Amino acid sequence: MVKICCLGAGYVGGPTMAVIALKCPSIEVVVVDISVARINAWNGDPLPIYEPGLDEVVKSCRGRNLFFSTDIEKHVSEADIIFVSVNTPTKTRGLGAGKAADLTYWESAARMIADVSKSDKIVVEKSTVPVKTAEAIEKILTHNSNGIHFQILSNPEFLAEGTAIEDLFKPDRVLIGGRETPEGRKAVQALKDVYAHWVPEDRIITTNLWSAELSKLAANAFLAQRISSVNAMSALCEATGADVTEVAYAVGKDSRIGPKFLNASVGFGGSCFQKDILNLVYICECNGLPEVANYWKQVIKINDYQKSRFVNRVVSSMFNTVSGKKIAILGFAFKKDTGDTRETPAIDVCKGLLGDKAKVSIYDPQVTEDQIQRDLAMNKFDWDHPIHLQPMSPTAVKQVSMAWDAYEATKDAHGICILTEWDEFKKLDYARIYEGMQKPAFVFDGRNVVDAEKLRAIGFIVYSIGKPLDPWLKDMPAVA
Ligand code: UDX
Ligand code: UDX
Ligand code: ADP
Repeated sequence: MVKICCLGAGYVGGPTMAVIALKCPSIEVVVVDISVARINAWNGDPLPIYEPGLDEVVKSCRGRNLFFSTDIEKHVSEADIIFVSVNTPTKTRGLGAGKAADLTYWESAARMIADVSKSDKIVVEKSTVPVKTAEAIEKILTHNSNGIHFQILSNPEFLAEGTAIEDLFKPDRVLIGGRETPEGRKAVQALKDVYAHWVPEDRIITTNLWSAELSKLAANAFLAQRISSVNAMSALCEATGADVTEVAYAVGKDSRIGPKFLNASVGFGGSCFQKDILNLVYICECNGLPEVANYWKQVIKINDYQKSRFVNRVVSSMFNTVSGKKIAILGFAFKKDTGDTRETPAIDVCKGLLGDKAKVSIYDPQVTEDQIQRDLAMNKFDWDHPIHLQPMSPTAVKQVSMAWDAYEATKDAHGICILTEWDEFKKLDYARIYEGMQKPAFVFDGRNVVDAEKLRAIGFIVYSIGKPLDPWLKDMPAVA
């Protein structure tokens, strides 16, 4: 029986291993983590992350061939294949701060693997890491190996949160990078055999190590670039009277461009896009390619611009002041169907509104109050993000409240900002909400989920990203 051990029971490690266990009953999969609380949660109910379909998958194989444990050394030493899926946040201090990936967790994982291994292992890089990390890890492993052979593979994960299980069941592709030596090829084949339990062979791509590592950064950079491109267009649409949805549809019909990932929004968030682009920028700079670095940096700058543009629109529409006004925030997660708030645009929008002394009432169906407080109090590293404000002052903290539902959040509010595209926000009783609000009542739809005409018929003044402006907004001062 093949044994797999995964280091890191996070958003990537947890769902990926659960699906491998489900699809490969002959393989024993143990997910380990240094966090006892996380492992306890994976062994309990509810699971530590919200992901549609995940519960069913975990419940059907937990205790059979899927295990969650804190006994890291035991399971690493017993495994044939070790996936490393630990966190790689952006460095906040030292060389490359604000851009380079912090590989502390990775390095300590590699040293531990070298220390406890008593048989040959395949070590699979699963978390996104800078190009050439595999080489560094290989050095750590081989210099501490005691005669044991390690093969390093890069097998980047492409799942998106909210659709992780679907993406894992039917991946567009599985990418495996390895050394081009007989041992390297053997290791690639061993991992290929795991995926071949459910992924058609023509979707399993094999490359050299560095191509696999770079492909992950490139794919995320291209995806983020599409969003920044359509968001840049959204500003121009508002200025000219074009409708970004119509433009995106027309553009996406070109089969060379394709229709997906062209939804204008208040900005992209999530743990990957910004981190991976910053990483790419850093690698370009280190390799003497400043023009390429600047090209990709612009994708983040437009994203920051989009968030500040949204805040400016809110403030300017409401007579240039939101001071003391209650603003309801509907949605805090970085996208629907997840409770994850990493890099969510809601953090910057809330901080922007709080900076203008608004009272903010937040409702999100999956994000806890504690998480929101932590996010708003967090100090952002000082890269050249104009919008990332300082942590909130104690007075600003008092301006934030949490609501149990959208109706409570919007009660007596002057305005509503929709920041996550949760399905339930499409179905709210907006006539009831309008009744409970101060007048004029504003809706700022950062995800284009509401039917603006219907809301206008009720009496709302509605701003939708990239759409022809409400007559009210046209008369307001221009947004920078
Ligand atoms: C992303 C990649 O899609 C995935 O392949 C990779 O493995 C990890 O990073 P994720 O961050 O989970 O996944 O979600 P994704 O669906 O890509 O959305 C990222 C952000 O872009 C969200 O804030 C989302 O709301 C935003 N977005 C997405 C848009 O604003 N418009 C779009 O058209 C699509
Ligand atoms: C383009 C658009 O494709 C077409 O829809 C529009 O109506 C007019 O402009 P055209 O300029 O004739 O058409 O050719 P196209 O095939 O788009 O190529 C433009 C340039 O891009 C060429 O120099 C081509 O060599 C280059 N190219 C194209 C690349 O370098 N790489 C590619 O992957 C594709
Ligand atoms: P991702 O979104 O990439 O999955 P997460 O932050 O959700 O990232 O998960 C990473 C997990 O890795 C965390 O639960 C963290 O506790 C765990 N971790 C970090 N270092 C180690 C290590 N050396 N051994 C085991 N687990 C680790």
